[in-house]
Amino acid sequence: MAVAISGIDLNRPDPATHGALVDALHENLVLCVRGQSLTPVAFRDAMARFGTPVQRKQLAATPECAEVNIISSEDRDELGDGKKLVNGASWHTDDSFMREPCSLTMLYGVIVPSRGGDTQFVNMYAAYEALPAETRARIDGLKVIHRYQSSRQTNRVSQRPAEEMAAMPEATHPLVRTHPETGRKALYLNANRMEQVVGLERAESDALLDALIAHAIEPRFQYRHAWQRGDVVIWDNRCTMHKANADYPEDERRLMHRVIVAGTAPV
Ligand code: SIN
Repeated sequence: MAVAISGIDLNRPDPATHGALVDALHENLVLCVRGQSLTPVAFRDAMARFGTPVQRKQLAATPECAEVNIISSEDRDELGDGKKLVNGASWHTDDSFMREPCSLTMLYGVIVPSRGGDTQFVNMYAAYEALPAETRARIDGLKVIHRYQSSRQTNRVSQRPAEEMAAMPEATHPLVRTHPETGRKALYLNANRMEQVVGLERAESDALLDALIAHAIEPRFQYRHAWQRGDVVIWDNRCTMHKANADYPEDERRLMHRVIVAGTAPV
């Protein structure tokens, strides 16, 4: 899982290189292109070659480009208690509270701390395939309700205005999804957004979701990305989970630009 590539300038599109990057992403699930220098517009345009960038209001956007969001060590819960907020600090897949979650996420390391601030990933194909056959038979076909503000939430998310919340009602997704491009099955979990397995009592649902999360995040399924300034990391939310780490020195900054591209309803 995960591959890093150097010697490519994403400012200069080239169809053959792009095809190779798409293949590398499908094979490795997480793709890092090192040494980039991209304005927000150039970042958006480079990522638009992988899919259609979509806007999300839960994160601030750059003034230059509304499709480029900001993840920063200075993030606060502006509409809530105003306190510092670490976006993405628990295991999740992006956007699962949406009925059509994004397919890919791209994060560009604009300012990275001297140590810490890694992003961890898990391979959800491998986590699914490693389950005992009887567990796979039990969970294939189950569905889970996902919510922006889930009662099982392990990491606080920012408060949003009522009209925005109304535009993202809960979504029901399969617990095991089939990747639309590779045809492979993957666990589809989000520790921060899953509410309950449809048809199971609360306690049974909690026990199943907790056990599946504990299994999926075992170190054998993980890759940990240590950021270098100028890295563009692209991952496939349909077959991975990830989490941010806010363990860098308090007086250092971490600034990421982020683009997501449209996906389809999980099946
Ligand atoms: C995210 O969850 O999209 C952000 C991950 C990070 O900041 O490392």
